[in-house]
Amino acid sequence: MKDDDELCLCFHVTKRKVVQYIRVNQPTVPSQLSECYGAGTGCGWCRPFLKRLMEQPDMDSELLPESDAYAANRRQYRQAQK
Ligand code: FES
Repeated sequence: MKDDDELCLCFHVTKRKVVQYIRVNQPTVPSQLSECYGAGTGCGWCRPFLKRLMEQPDMDSELLPESDAYAANRRQYRQAQK
């Protein structure tokens, strides 16, 4: 996943925005990331990734899935929710 790829697809929040939010605001619990343009407050798919990024904001981008696979897996996740 590249910095400008959307990490929260529901609210179009990029990885770069989340990382910047973490650096500036230093949240102590993942739910505080909802203050970053609503990240994580939609379908919930991105929450584990938000948590992972919060634990390691300088994480190598290679450790997050490629955006195409990420979006495809989210579609499956949402289908399963129905
Ligand atoms: S992708 Fe972030 S809440 Fe749905």
